[in-house]
Amino acid sequence: MMVRPQVLIVGGGMITHDQLLPSVYQMQRQGRTGEISICALRYSSLRRLAHDEMLERAFPGQSFHAYPSSDGPARPELFRKAIAALPPRQIVMVAVPDQAHYDVVMTALLHDQHICCVKPLVLEHRQAVEIEREARARGLVVGVEYHKRFDDRSLMARRKYREGWFGEFRLGTACLFEKWYYRHSNFQNWMTAENSDAFTYIGCHYVDLVHFITGLLPVSVSVYGVRDRFPNGSEGFLWTDARVIWNNGACLNVQNGLGFPDAAPGTNTQGMVMYCSGEDKGALLAHSDQYRGLKYSYTHKPGDAGATIYTEPSPDYFQYVDLGGAGLTPIGYGYRSVEHIVSSIIRVESEPEDRRLALLDEFDQAGIMATPRNSSYNELVVEAGRRSILNGGRQVDIRYGEAPGIE
Ligand SMILES: NC(=O)c1ccc[n+]([C@@H]2O[C@H](COP(=O)([O-])OP(=O)(O)OC[C@H]3O[C@@H](n4cnc5c(N)ncnc54)[C@H](O)[C@@H]3O)[C@@H](O)[C@H]2O)c1
Repeated sequence: MMVRPQVLIVGGGMITHDQLLPSVYQMQRQGRTGEISICALRYSSLRRLAHDEMLERAFPGQSFHAYPSSDGPARPELFRKAIAALPPRQIVMVAVPDQAHYDVVMTALLHDQHICCVKPLVLEHRQAVEIEREARARGLVVGVEYHKRFDDRSLMARRKYREGWFGEFRLGTACLFEKWYYRHSNFQNWMTAENSDAFTYIGCHYVDLVHFITGLLPVSVSVYGVRDRFPNGSEGFLWTDARVIWNNGACLNVQNGLGFPDAAPGTNTQGMVMYCSGEDKGALLAHSDQYRGLKYSYTHKPGDAGATIYTEPSPDYFQYVDLGGAGLTPIGYGYRSVEHIVSSIIRVESEPEDRRLALLDEFDQAGIMATPRNSSYNELVVEAGRRSILNGGRQVDIRYGEAPGIE
């Protein structure tokens, strides 16, 4: 039987615009997913998406059902109705601010929906455990969208590391700084000191990658955060410096911020260097994840926020290319990541019921798609990181075993 799940995206912000919606439109165009709906707080965000010039050009004739469908006050509870309106065993994509993930994910699971959730899944480990239990009891997939895993360079590093070419990770640094203008976006309404911080928001990518590549587990975290004001006066930890210790004693330093100059080329700056050792030799793995070899200097400045006349675009995360025919085709690891999770869900739905749990086990063990079972060290790191940053950078230890948690 051909399975063509409907997709409901909850959240109509930046990540929905930049990655989720175009990826789902592409799969809909290929006949692999069915109807699409999007729920946001206000219709104004959905109107913007519906009339977005790039999306219209890339996907002519494709559209989505909007919740809410007209202007009015914010509707924070409407996602419950939108989820309830779906037949069981479709797909809910969760793209709301970090602290709202848990409620949306649990609501969707209780309505028998598969989940694709943007990172970080949730902010507390016990919530990840609860999500995993509920999903398993219902034979549902929960895929956490850590798209850097689908960057070919991460997959290359993972295979080479696991084949022993680098020996063992000892010391490393990673950074990811978003542009300054992010402070002027909707982030000022939610990425505030009491909810989140730069490390929780984007540091998790590199923590996740180090595990993805090496299989090591983080055992202690300390995060020093610099408080700064958003333009609306709210306070946030907009610069963070984290130290993550791994279960072999290795150490990764991660710096994050909303502070890469708007005038600088590229949409952000990011990368990772890992020093390793083995066989009485040093080994090195260095990824420039921002500068990927392209230099463009335009005749005039593009209109998008943070765009510059000289730029160093990444061809690898998410781009639209013209492969002939109507519209444009999305390419890059942003697309591949969403496609992988959606295809995994379609696989589960295509199996006879008694095979579904075995397939979920297979996904957990393969460790390519992040699931609550194979990636909840990320929740432990977030929890430890939050405890640490609110206590001036104190070291917080992570406990595994029967009852994982933070000390
Ligand atoms: N690199 C990445 O993996 C990456 C990048 C960006 C964002 N994200 C994640 O995506 C999530 C959203 O980020 P964003 O950048 O799109 O933020 P955003 O602020 O641009 O958008 C948030 C959206 O959520 C909607 N929303 C909030 N509460 C809601 C509710 N109760 N019901 C329905 N909609 C609601 C808002 O209307 C808005 O459309 C965050 O968890 C963030 O960490 C991940």
